[in-house]
Amino acid sequence: MDPAYVRSRMTTFDQAQTSTSEAVGHGTPPTLPTESTETTHYSIVDEAGNAVAVTYTINDLYGSKLVVDGTGFFLNDEMDDFTSAPGEPNLWGLVQGERNAVRPGARPVSSMTPTILEDPDGRLFMVVGSPGGARIITTVFQVITNVIDYGMDIQDAVAAPRFHHQWLPDDLQVEQGFPDEQLDRLSEKGWEIREISTFGAADAIMIEYNRVGVRTLYGGADPRRETDTAVGY
Ligand code: DON
Repeated sequence: MDPAYVRSRMTTFDQAQTSTSEAVGHGTPPTLPTESTETTHYSIVDEAGNAVAVTYTINDLYGSKLVVDGTGFFLNDEMDDFTSAPGEPNLWGLVQGERNAVRPGARPVSSMTPTILEDPDGRLFMVVGSPGGARIITTVFQVITNVIDYGMDIQDAVAAPRFHHQWLPDDLQVEQGFPDEQLDRLSEKGWEIREISTFGAADAIMIEYNRVGVRTLYGGADPRRETDTAVGY
């Protein structure tokens, strides 16, 4: 539907003369940006101060190769959030038991953590969430603690390197960016450190109020995903 592409397709069109079918071939439409197969989060605050934090997922690529008998449709990959093999790690390395088995009416376990925080006066303070499988919870927690306990602005809080531990595997997963001496000290204490590629894509809004209660919104967009942006209106 891109007008430039449509014009390019029409350059061989002749109002006065038909073309032979052999002369009409397929076009080469502009390449679309590759769409992530993964979970997405967005945080919104409107001008009246209403907030939404939405994380949505089909887990990974579409389809779990299972068709529901008699319906003809595929179950999506969200089925992997059930325990399909007790004691075996799922896509996110989570090891689970029978309690999370696939059964009618059940909801699979989820790490999704769309979060809205209020300040001690009950005013909207922060909206945050992230994709990242099992690492979502630690991602969201670390953004919050970076702001509240370490006084970072929301963009720095979202961008700061993160670490993660999820019981099994029994290791401390770290992104690049932590000082070597800090990691060495943890190793000396017995932590099994494993450097992994970046995880999560936290997108957050922080709200400040002036003396008369007028809001200023600050957006934090995760540099880990190039499509993540903070926009105002
Ligand atoms: O609900 C869950 O915990 C998982 N389906 C989330 C998967 C996810 O975040 C994938 N994206 N990175």
